[in-house]
Amino acid sequence: MPGRLEPDPIPRRDFIGIYGLWAAALAIFGSILGMMRLPKPRVTPEASTKFRAGTPAEFSPGTVKIIPEYNVRLLATEQGFAAMSLICPHLGCVVRESVDGFLCPCHGSRFSLQGTVLAGPAPRSLQWLSITQAIDGSLVVDTAQETEPGTFFQV
Ligand code: FES
Repeated sequence: MPGRLEPDPIPRRDFIGIYGLWAAALAIFGSILGMMRLPKPRVTPEASTKFRAGTPAEFSPGTVKIIPEYNVRLLATEQGFAAMSLICPHLGCVVRESVDGFLCPCHGSRFSLQGTVLAGPAPRSLQWLSITQAIDGSLVVDTAQETEPGTFFQV
């Protein structure tokens, strides 16, 4: 028999009911917290390394197109299409076209029209980049995908 100072025992049904209410409240609180995080992206998107340079019909053989946003030079020839990075392999400056090829304004590296390093501190040639064709026919250049120099993409 319980004493006067001891609390009344909670009946089992009440205990289960209270426990169930707390569990439901916790689940609702967790759901609300989860929904509040939904508008914020969980990953920070990086800029894509691929871009569309146009359709093959836009280029006649001999056409050169500079895409300044990606520092890429696209060349259309009878053999196909080629894309070359205009980023100097020394420290990353953007090379400029010169009379006989390319010149880096930062430390003076010189490159041939095919991107072969001719002089300067640049340790290697300019990168030739991969070209693929999208399903809509556009040429897609991937600045993160290097190909062998002299590789032309056939349409
Ligand atoms: S960054 Fe081009 S030569 Fe140094």
